[in-house]
Amino acid sequence: MSSLLILNGPNLNLLGTRQPEVYGRTTLDDVQRLCESEATALGMTIVFQQSNHEGVLIDAIHAARGMHAGIVLNAGAYTHSSIALMDAISSVALPVVEVHLSNIHAREPFRHASFIAPVAVGQICGFGAAGYALAIRALAGHLGRLSGGTDS
Ligand code: DQA
Repeated sequence: MSSLLILNGPNLNLLGTRQPEVYGRTTLDDVQRLCESEATALGMTIVFQQSNHEGVLIDAIHAARGMHAGIVLNAGAYTHSSIALMDAISSVALPVVEVHLSNIHAREPFRHASFIAPVAVGQICGFGAAGYALAIRALAGHLGRLSGGTDS
């Protein structure tokens, strides 16, 4: 299976106009194009989704089972609050790479904690939209799909 789910949480639909001093001017459509191009370069496909609703994100994680080889997840503020999302990830046993546009560790203390990190393969933050491409590449490596085959 060579498909990845790129899943985006609350308020990320407003990228480009939302706090550009923090998140930049890149829109979510731009992020999607970047993800498509990175995935294509790696011989993979993506499904790109965004929701402002916790339950919809959980349903998307459940539905990914059997459909996708892994998930790139920017859970937005749910990162810092959602045990339910953490449990959903544990329940489907799919590799997840956590991504954030901003460096959450350099921001308010409440953003330093992540319920996603303990159940993720790893976390990429602070590189803006480029972090999504890095996350796709990291997931491809984890899945053994990069040349050389076995890096994780
Ligand atoms: C974010 C960081 C979160 O703390 C915040 O709530 C977001 C965006 C990021 O991509 O930097 O909505 O996930």
